[in-house]
Order: sequence, then C-alpha cells, then structure tokens
Amino acid sequence: MGKVRTVLSCRDCGQQLARWAGRCPGCGAWGTIEEGRGGLAASAPALETLAHDDADERRISTGLPGVDRVLGGGLVPSTVALLAGEPGIGKSTLLLQMVANLSAAGLPCLFASGEESRRQVSARAHRLGIEGSSLSFVTGRELPAVVEAARAMRPFLLAVDSIQSLREPSAGQVPGGPSQVRGCADALVGFAKSEGVSVVMTGHVTKDGDLAGPRALEHAVDVVLAFDGDPRSGLRMLSAGKNRFGAEGEVAWFEMSGAGLREIDPAHLLLPGGGEPGAATALPLAGRRGLAVEVQALVAGGEGTARRQVSGLDLRRFQLVGAVLDSAGLRLGRADVFGAVAGGARLDDPACDLAVAAAVASAVARVPAPTASAFVGEIGLTGVVRPAPGMGARLSAARAAGLHTVFVPEGAQGLEGFRPVPVRHVMQALTWAAARPTSVPGPPP
Ligand code: TYD
Ligand code: MG
Repeated sequence: MGKVRTVLSCRDCGQQLARWAGRCPGCGAWGTIEEGRGGLAASAPALETLAHDDADERRISTGLPGVDRVLGGGLVPSTVALLAGEPGIGKSTLLLQMVANLSAAGLPCLFASGEESRRQVSARAHRLGIEGSSLSFVTGRELPAVVEAARAMRPFLLAVDSIQSLREPSAGQVPGGPSQVRGCADALVGFAKSEGVSVVMTGHVTKDGDLAGPRALEHAVDVVLAFDGDPRSGLRMLSAGKNRFGAEGEVAWFEMSGAGLREIDPAHLLLPGGGEPGAATALPLAGRRGLAVEVQALVAGGEGTARRQVSGLDLRRFQLVGAVLDSAGLRLGRADVFGAVAGGARLDDPACDLAVAAAVASAVARVPAPTASAFVGEIGLTGVVRPAPGMGARLSAARAAGLHTVFVPEGAQGLEGFRPVPVRHVMQALTWAAARPTSVPGPPP
C-alpha cells in the first residue's frame, strides 16, 4: 500500500499500457511509450534542469579504429546510429564485429536480428572467431519484443539488423513499408533516449543510394554511417553522412576477408596503373586525406541510344562530363561510354570530373594520358574547370604515388615540386589527346 507501481504510459496522452508498444493505441503517436509512475493519467512530464552532463563527451571505442574515427572518436553513449548500405555490402558483419568487441570490453550488447535466425548469426559469429556464448540474441521481427528484451537486459548497445525487418504489429501494415520503418525508428530513438541505451540499426539502401523508403529516417538518428563499395570486390568504405557528435567526411577503408572486415590503408590498393589509353589518375578526397585513384573509360561505337554506364562513379556527373566534352568538340555522338574506378572504390568527389574527362578523351583518341600525371577539377556546364577544395591533401597523395605532372584549376597553390598545368577550360587539359578526333574512331587499324 502506498507503493509506487511502475507502469508504461504514453508521454503525450497518458494512455496506460500493460505491455510496451512502439505506437500508442490511445493517440497513435510513435515512440512515446515509456516507464512512468502509475496514478493519474496525463500527468505532467517530469521537469529537468540543464545541469552540464558530459555524456556527449564520453566516447566508447568499438574496437575498430576506423569505425571510431568515422564516429568522431568512438561511440557516444545513447547514440542512435543508422548503418546504411546495399544488400551484401557487409552491414551485418560489421555490426556483429562491433557487438563482439564491445561485449569483450565488458559492455553488454543485445543483437536483434530479423534478417537472420539465431542459428545463422551464431554460425557467422563462429566463422568470425567470435565466442557466441558471450553474446545475447533476440529475434528482431517485432518491435515490442525487442524493446522488452532490451528493457529487461539494459545493454550498453542494442544492435538491430535491420530496421526494415522490424515491425510494430499494432500498427498494421507490412514490415519494410515507409510508415513502419519510420515508426519503428522513432520508437527506437525514444527508447534509446529515455533508457540511455545506444542503438545501431542497419538499413538497406538501393543502388541509387535511396534508403528503400526510409530516407526520411536520417533526420531521426544522430549518426548515419554509409557503408559503400563494390559488393564484388573486397574493398569497403565507411563514412559518416551525418554526425551529430563529430566531423563529417571522415572515411575508413575495409577489406572483406574470410575472417570478416579488416581495416586497410587504401593507398596501397588503389595505386594507379601506368599508361594505358582510357585511364587517367584522379586525386579524390576521402575524408581529410587525398588518394591517387585510376579512373577508366571505354568508348565503343554504339547504335541507337548512346549508353552511359558507370561503376564506382556518379552517373549524373559522368553524363554531364560526356555532354560537355561532346559540345566542346570531342564528338561522342551515339557512342556507348563506360566509366569505372580501378580497385572497386567509389568516387563522388566532383573534383574527379577532370580525370573522368581525361580518361574519356584518352579512350577516344587511343592515346595514353601523360606519364605520371593526375587531373584535379570540377567541370561546369560551360566546360570551365572550377577550383577544388583540399588541394594540399590531394597533392600529397600525388607526391606519395610518384606523380609529377598535375593538371589543376587555374590559381591552384602549393605546386612546388610538380610540373603544373593550370587549366581554365576542360579542353586545355586534353591537348595531349592530340589531333582531337571529331568522331568516335572505328576499329583499330
Ligand atoms: P553481410 O554482412 O551479410 O552483408 P549485409 O548485411 O550488408 O547484407 O555480408 C555480405 C557478404 O560478405 C556475404 O555475401 C558473405 C561475405 N562475407 C565474407 O566474405 N567474409 C566473412 O567473414 C563474412 C562474415 C561474410
Ligand atoms: Mg545483413
């Protein structure tokens, strides 16, 4: 008697519930159900002070230095992060490795999988050399069951694989639909913030980088980690698309090996080859560092519609560069033009435009780009080459790769030790492709 009973109720409307739910049956709000004291419904929320709390400054290592770096120095407690990537890229593997490391460091984690069964996750853990008996697992298909398990266990981290396989049964609708995904994510955010639990959830994105429905999810979470790469090659890139607690743009590189993901230094993997027609070296920024990466192009006589196809490059930028070259006199006409990045990396830095243009010009003319050269600059619709940020880091990469001729936007600084070719218009960077062919050449003589 006189005892305070712990009940679950909605923060918004005060509706009391016997069982946790992601969506309030009273008012329909998502993520508002929390533990409170029984008694009057619709009681006012407890007031808090703004006393300084150093929780945002505490960083917990995930045991993967690259992941810590991308997070801005480790995981901030009660962070909600979305690990987004294409199917097969390695999201489940990365999440499991993080969970294993944190658990080994004495921070209990709960792995909720709706994608794979307990048996499958346990087999994967075994293959990765992870002691499965020290990990906690719950089937991650129904949101209330996952949250109840997490509430009972109070882990440091709740890992959810994936947000699309989770659903709130009371809301109707199929899992993976936009409102289910949004609602479940909102509910997890509410849970993380009220209980002080960190949540990392995986989310599938399609080839175009669309978060299959829940693009809108990005605003709800603290951190968006984008996991990228070519699923066929072993190379993977992790970057922060959004980070409430740290610098954006930091990148970590991994290799998918038989024993899971291993951090690597990309400088060794992406070193440009030498002197083939159709190849040119770009100096993209990956986070704060520069890289020397070979861009390749293939131009083939086409009939009907001109195809533009890329792997590792941004298709729209590639099309734009092709159109600019075409109107500047390098007639691509109906030719099919293919673009790729050596080593399976993905470049979305606009300052790679000039290297793309050089690779295409080299392919058309069947003339190799100048020996040990690199190209930097974004190309505008008029063909004018715009300055690129981070020139210092780009040039360091060129220096490390032994490149000495650099085609750079007019006005670029810090070119000591290089043979610089400042260019204002894209065609000025392509004069070596000599007697510019006015059309796509026929078969080689
Ligand atoms: P996975 O983590 O399942 O990708 P996602 O969750 O993003 O869909 O892993 C993708 C692929 O990686 C899978 O096809 C098998 C491969 N793989 C390895 O090559 N080595 C390994 O150690 C593991 C666990 C997976
Ligand atoms: Mg998976």
